[in-house]
Amino acid sequence: MRRAKITIVGAGNVGATTAHWCAAAELGNIVLLDIPQTGDMPKGKGLDLLQASPIMSFDSSITGTTSYEDTVGSDVVVITAGIPRKPGMSRDDLLATNAKIMTDVCEQVKRTSEHAVVIVVSNPLDAMVQRAMQVTGFEPSRVVGQAGILDTARYRAFLSMELGVSVKDISALLMGGHGDTMVPIPSCTSVGGMPITQLIDKKRLDEIVDRTRNGGAEIVSLLKTGSAYYAPSAATAQMVEAVIRDQKRVVPCAAYCDKEYGVGGYYVGVPVVLGASGVERIIELKLTAEEQAAFQKSVQAVKELVGAMGKLV
Ligand code: NAI
Ligand code: 2OP
Repeated sequence: MRRAKITIVGAGNVGATTAHWCAAAELGNIVLLDIPQTGDMPKGKGLDLLQASPIMSFDSSITGTTSYEDTVGSDVVVITAGIPRKPGMSRDDLLATNAKIMTDVCEQVKRTSEHAVVIVVSNPLDAMVQRAMQVTGFEPSRVVGQAGILDTARYRAFLSMELGVSVKDISALLMGGHGDTMVPIPSCTSVGGMPITQLIDKKRLDEIVDRTRNGGAEIVSLLKTGSAYYAPSAATAQMVEAVIRDQKRVVPCAAYCDKEYGVGGYYVGVPVVLGASGVERIIELKLTAEEQAAFQKSVQAVKELVGAMGKLV
């Protein structure tokens, strides 16, 4: 059987660690690409990871490159290229630099992997995935952003710490943009099937939501030299797996919403069915008035960001 071809653009912390998870799960053959200025760094990381395969017992070829010719015909392209946050910076501070990088990368992806599903990770996420769709010209369902799986994982981890129960028994959903306005959906949060609102009082739940909103900044302030990458890359690898294995996973992703939720043509975090062709369906939930208001506020923030990006490049 032909192995899937997975290209990861940006061989930095998130890119290389995504390669690690994908290789260990034998999702396919991996091409790790970075800019020529990084010299042989992507080759070195690819070779190092390949040499782990006899120990960890996985069959995946991993190659590093600075040439898009090595990526031709990829089934999935993950884009992590760009600069990460430093302490004191918001994701939005990255807009100008990363919009230019996203344009350059997507022109190459369009040329070399015209049938790929594209998973965008670079920040500010909701604007970058919009730019990726515009530049590749791919149908919007084939371009999707990673944020919701990470944000929801942080929320689930904090809930598990609070309650002293397994993360495996916590199911949750956050919607909206990958930013300070992300929207918790308490009616879709449960522990072993029991509603979270019966297990944690509102004040404490609000504190946990706040910590989740600041989850990225909390890691930045600890690392000091960059942003989170273990959990972000695990979330990205889960999306790659859903596509490669056509799993029809129900996960929150930044998906192109037009009529859905009345968004009007922007990428925003919503629950989707993720499979071989990318976003196969957007699930429209009936939100409470409070959730709806918070979601609209988050969508407005995304629109402003995309508007600001339009003026830049
Ligand atoms: P990093 O600095 O470790 O790696 C970024 C890599 O991109 C570098 O190796 C750099 O040389 C490369 N790069 C720059 N321009 C490029 C181009 N034109 N083509 C190919 N590669 C290029 O940064 P890290 O930590 O891996 O983060 C990457 C991006 O992902 C950042 O924008 C960060 O904010 C974002 N991020 C997003 C998350 C999300 O949930 N959506 C979570 C974590 C990070
Ligand atoms: C995060 O949430 C930086 O977006 C990245 O960790």
